Amino acid sequence: MSFDRKIKIAPSILSADFANFGAEIRAIEAEGADWVHVDVMDGHFVPNLTFGPMAVKAFRPHVKTVMDVHLMIAPVDPYIDAYADAGADVLTAHVEAGPHIHRTLQAIRGAGMKAGVALNPGTPAEAVAHLLELTDLICVMTVNPGFGGQKFIDMTAKIARLRQMIGDRPVHIEIDGGVDPKTAPLVAQAGADVLVAGSAVFRGGSVDNPGVYGQNIAEIRAAAEGVWA
Ligand code: DX5
Ligand code: ZN
Repeated sequence: MSFDRKIKIAPSILSADFANFGAEIRAIEAEGADWVHVDVMDGHFVPNLTFGPMAVKAFRPHVKTVMDVHLMIAPVDPYIDAYADAGADVLTAHVEAGPHIHRTLQAIRGAGMKAGVALNPGTPAEAVAHLLELTDLICVMTVNPGFGGQKFIDMTAKIARLRQMIGDRPVHIEIDGGVDPKTAPLVAQAGADVLVAGSAVFRGGSVDNPGVYGQNIAEIRAAAEGVWA
């Protein structure tokens, strides 16, 4: 995974058919996904439960692009090696998940992965001011984490502030929650380059009708790239 500030669309398989992950991953990649976003929830840090490292490891052979694993779990540190072993390319932990995010990011890089740090809507940009040298990606949540299909919360001021703080460092800004062709231009304009989208990608499509995924991805991408022209 090299650094490249082109818009990247990262469909979240939280909106995929949970009985058919392999085919769903292959379908979204064939239809233009740049990354595959994998939402890990523990029923404790967030009020929902998805899957753990064994499932993520089973996804790995299907992912030809970048496996972007978003941990909504606390604690994080005891599981870092398991996600490295599962083959995560990017491993993102929440700044709110514990008192030692600095150590967590060091450990993620130490285990050979790109390190991401996620911010809940209530957490200010300044929470990552001392982490910029330790992180490859800052994930700005535009919903309260836990569920797909929620309404977008406008975080454009936070995104713009982060892009300014990052300066010329090779750090991605990823947006997660409520991204669709209407909201994508707002976040791209503010400085985001990785757009996670669950419901807006999977809506209306299926592995038997994957062209809809392609159309949905293309619409989000075109809307976001429009403001970069
Ligand atoms: C929310 C997850 C998101 C979610 C986004 O807790 O982190 O990745 O799947 O879903 P949409 O795009 O439907 O808001
Ligand atoms: Zn996510």
